[in-house]
Amino acid sequence: MASTTAPVVLASNRGPVSFTIEDDGTLTPRRGGGGLVSGLSAIGSEQRSVWVCAALSDGDRAAARQGLTEPDVRMLDIDAETFARAYNGIANSTLWFVHHLLYDTPTKPLFDARFRREWASYEEYNRAFAAALAESAEPGAAVLVQDYHLSLTPRLLRELRPDVRIAHFSHTPWAPPDYYRLLPDDVARDVLEGILGADRAGFLTERWARAFADCCREVLGASVSEDLAVTHAGHTTRLGVHGLGADAEFLRDRAHQPDVDARLAALREAVGDRRTIVRVDRTELSKNIVRGLEAYRHLLRTRSEWLDRVVHIAFAYPSRTDVPEYRAYTEAVLRTAKEINDEFGTARWQPVILHVNDDFPRSLAAYRLADVALVNPIRDGMNLVAKEVPVVSDAGVALVLSREAGAHAELGESALTVNPFDVIQTAEALHTALTMPSEERSGRTRRLAEASTALPPTAWFLQQLHALRGDQPAQA
Ligand code: G6P
Repeated sequence: MASTTAPVVLASNRGPVSFTIEDDGTLTPRRGGGGLVSGLSAIGSEQRSVWVCAALSDGDRAAARQGLTEPDVRMLDIDAETFARAYNGIANSTLWFVHHLLYDTPTKPLFDARFRREWASYEEYNRAFAAALAESAEPGAAVLVQDYHLSLTPRLLRELRPDVRIAHFSHTPWAPPDYYRLLPDDVARDVLEGILGADRAGFLTERWARAFADCCREVLGASVSEDLAVTHAGHTTRLGVHGLGADAEFLRDRAHQPDVDARLAALREAVGDRRTIVRVDRTELSKNIVRGLEAYRHLLRTRSEWLDRVVHIAFAYPSRTDVPEYRAYTEAVLRTAKEINDEFGTARWQPVILHVNDDFPRSLAAYRLADVALVNPIRDGMNLVAKEVPVVSDAGVALVLSREAGAHAELGESALTVNPFDVIQTAEALHTALTMPSEERSGRTRRLAEASTALPPTAWFLQQLHALRGDQPAQA
């Protein structure tokens, strides 16, 4: 079967659609959301594009084999074990840990024979992407490769198709060189050289772009110009900062649909006339949910005026449950929430309302209701929750925000900043947020919403595409 080619090609591990196998064996597609989906749909209306992604489940693999995806989506049927080693072993358990500084270093990481098998699978998975992209790109096409799953792909693609323009985008933070050097030397080099195969490498904030440049300098001996062009082995890659913003139009419309209204009424009923501290996260180790709960516990222990006067609504949705550390972390979240409810709860007041099943309309309802939003990651590429809550808020929200979230670069001035490890400081910031005069809260919310929507997904995507096409081809 001849594959579709296009002038714009996108590559990401997770694609815009996933398939579920029903009891009778039929496959049901489900279209996902997110910045990439809205960005690419905008392009799709102007010119042809193809999205190359991996089959993530048995349903996806069956759909890929039967050719069930739309012609503009190419799902790669990568052998399940190779995929698991690349995705869980390298992307989620190695590169994610490195960039978010998550290792408990006295015992981990351990780069042993098992790691080497995983790394070989990661190389194979990246080669599969490069080959598919080479087939899908028209002559001179713009190819936009996403994230740490695909760090080797730009270089591999350049070898196969020197005519195409390649961009890579990191949606995560980038580790500082001292930490990045935990990786085995050859792996540390391969990841950097892989991304440097691109003409442009994009980041969410200048801080992450600079960390990447520092790693290139220290690990590869690359030269870095003042405007962040990295030259290594005769090839120059320009670094760009594109701070993805919230999609105000979509969010405001979606947040006022009847299903959200119904959930808002239910939350109001549960909360009564108490104040609310809201957090919404995927349960990732970097989100710092347990310390957030500890800060709330400290608030209740030290500020008795809040007893029976506040509710912490915490939504911690499942993520990467194949990784043992993630499962253990989810248990720690559940345990800590239960301890707080056991310590302070009464017949009429449940201090923490924790939900672990994903429900987007319910998240939007909580955004609308929140008096305070708690976004306290250990480290985060951007954190879109921090940008979405002020846009959707009904009556103004005070944002308690970790200085280690990428969003802090844009929102810090109007938020209450915390060191994510300091639970006493975080508790004090929650108290300040809860007692903030409503006029100040409204003013801050307005400024937060404005900064949050400066670069909505479609503009974010087009900005990168134009930058990629506008550059002169790099000199070999
Ligand atoms: C987070 C990160 C992205 C990453 C995504 C993958 O949202 O910010 O950088 O691509 O996780 O999530 P997944 O569920 O596919 O592992």
